[in-house]
Amino acid sequence: MQHNRGQWQSTAGFILAAAGSAIGLGNIWRFPYVAGTNGGAAFVFLYLVCVLLICLPYLFCELAMGRHTKKNPVGAVLALRGKSPWTLVGALGVLTGVCILSYYGVIAGWAFGYIFKSFLAPALSLGEFSANSMVSVPLFALFILFTILVVVRGVEKGIEKAARVLMPMLLVLMLLLIVRGLTLPGAWKGVEFLIKPDFSVVTTATVLAALGQAFFSLSLGMGAMITYGSYLPKSANLQTSGTYVALFDTGIALLAGFMIFPALFALGGNPSSGPPLIFEVLPTVFAQMTLGSVVAAVFFVLLSIAALTSTVSLLEVPVSYFVDDRKWSRKKSVWVVGAAAFALGLPAALEPSSESLRSISLMGATGYLSVMDLIWGNISLAVGAMLLCIFTGWVWGYLKAGAELQEGGGMSEGTVKIWGVFIRFICPLFIFLVLLSLFPFGSRLLAAIGLG
Ligand code: PFF
Repeated sequence: MQHNRGQWQSTAGFILAAAGSAIGLGNIWRFPYVAGTNGGAAFVFLYLVCVLLICLPYLFCELAMGRHTKKNPVGAVLALRGKSPWTLVGALGVLTGVCILSYYGVIAGWAFGYIFKSFLAPALSLGEFSANSMVSVPLFALFILFTILVVVRGVEKGIEKAARVLMPMLLVLMLLLIVRGLTLPGAWKGVEFLIKPDFSVVTTATVLAALGQAFFSLSLGMGAMITYGSYLPKSANLQTSGTYVALFDTGIALLAGFMIFPALFALGGNPSSGPPLIFEVLPTVFAQMTLGSVVAAVFFVLLSIAALTSTVSLLEVPVSYFVDDRKWSRKKSVWVVGAAAFALGLPAALEPSSESLRSISLMGATGYLSVMDLIWGNISLAVGAMLLCIFTGWVWGYLKAGAELQEGGGMSEGTVKIWGVFIRFICPLFIFLVLLSLFPFGSRLLAAIGLG
């Protein structure tokens, strides 16, 4: 069985692939606009706290589960616990992978289309561009196809190879754009926006946004890191590799901030423009630069690359489930899951041209795509992470999980003890409180005990 599951060729290959999964639209599209609408530096600070104190300890749960069992999220929970309701938590991860892929692929398709748009139709707004379903649906289909073509080649030849080429390219392109932005007169205001916090703007909603963003950005809560961890050999050091992944992801999110806000402030854009920020505001910023359409095209190449290494991981999670537990071939799994994600994403692609899809709303999110993102990209990831944390800490047992982390010269005994406190108490409790604040009765309860 094991031989046809695949394995990373090296730890560096794993780090690049896992960082590739983590680094995506979440860092370059979502982080800047969420930071922009949540007041800048104060949000960035909370985000960093969430990554360090909640996400990093939790990341080790997923990596330990994956490498110990060599399975997908469902198979991993089954292997550690046998048949029990906990299996549903693994199943939620697999389902979340398909659902996030469905709308994420739509946005990735826009990013890909914008490479050409910057030359062909620079004046078109995002609304006009995305409302043309003759363009947005084929772009979405194309992006899902790219993803399928990488994943069908397997772990080493597909995912790892793509990440090895694409991730360094991404970094170089970003650095070029940062230098370009920082050298514009007035860029410093954008830097200040990111580093000078004003804590008076912080509310529970800011904390929720920061935690949700941290999970999404690090690909946590749906077992992507269980799956990627399952292709790691025993000799790999989970503590260092996991820390690198978190460091790279956070670094790239911050770099994305430094790529966007200085240019934005220098050229007079509005930081709180929401989801269209990079699609609408940035191109107008680029338009004012010399060689603006080339810079814009470079930026959207970069965004497409980042998105591809993430969609690959979103597809790999359900695929690994069908390969491991349903004994499907990789090829069949990839095409079936890819097609399912495409079907599920069609309403998101058609939303800009459909009044009824635009008017769907839930708990403050409006429109099919935003509602899907709220359910799967926010709530499901947080619920999944909370439950998998409890599973590792209390059901599998933090000492057994800790023994896995100690393999390959990884975590020391002392660190395992501290980590155990985090994953048994601090992380699940914190996530629970944040989730509670999402619901009206919960936020009233939190306010009543002075935490709201
Ligand atoms: N981390 C990716 C991003 O920041 O764009 C999105 C993502 C990928 C979330 C894989 C969850 C996941 F399992």
